[in-house]
Amino acid sequence: MTAHNEAKKEEIAKIVLMAGDPLRAKKFAIEYLKNYKLVNSVRGMLTFTGYINNIKVTVMGHGMGMESIGIYAYELYKFYDVDIIIRFGSCGSYIKEINLFDLIIADQAYTESNYGLGFNKEKKDTIKASSDLILKAKKASEELNLIKKTKIGKIHSSMWFYTEGYDKGISNYTKNGVIAVEMESYALYLIAKTLNKKALTILTVSDNLITKQETTAFERQEGFIDMFKLLEKFVINLS
Ligand code: HPA
Repeated sequence: MTAHNEAKKEEIAKIVLMAGDPLRAKKFAIEYLKNYKLVNSVRGMLTFTGYINNIKVTVMGHGMGMESIGIYAYELYKFYDVDIIIRFGSCGSYIKEINLFDLIIADQAYTESNYGLGFNKEKKDTIKASSDLILKAKKASEELNLIKKTKIGKIHSSMWFYTEGYDKGISNYTKNGVIAVEMESYALYLIAKTLNKKALTILTVSDNLITKQETTAFERQEGFIDMFKLLEKFVINLS
């Protein structure tokens, strides 16, 4: 147990799926896990452990931003002996041609933040996801016939959702191959790498920052089904 997680060590699986929104984690648990139980609710960061095809899986919220996911991911790897964390969430596309509800397998995460300083890294850094997990996610997408709407690429882990007076200059990111923005994966990948563990992020495009298209709350709920199915398939393929 830690200050942020009241689950007993044996109540957390070796594979953890994490969503920013604890209620999204709960939805996944209700719809996809068998024999699940709530194992943690400290600060409302709901955590459920159950089974997908006899594979023990934990689903947990991680909050918004690198600082938040960093706390939970570090504790899961370091104190709960978790091997694999898959973050699933939403992102904004930096590319006009990427449609709402497309799926992104984030093979790399870039940040200009100084988050990495805590782990002996420089500012402005890019970290790769675990390559075997990228291939497994791609395979799951192919098997589900989702590959046409799945992009594999580099994402931006931003410090900002809102800014005033500072032009983030999307072209500065896209010219370095970045296709979408979220706020957590760099920290997850860095911590996984530091602790010799595995991590991957799978995202659904919830808005397009070029075309200004956005999804409604209701559409998000339904539109995330493909991502949920992909996660389920991914876990099944791990066995
Ligand atoms: N910025 C950061 N994170 C996000 C966004 C965004 O525009 N959309 C979904 N997650």
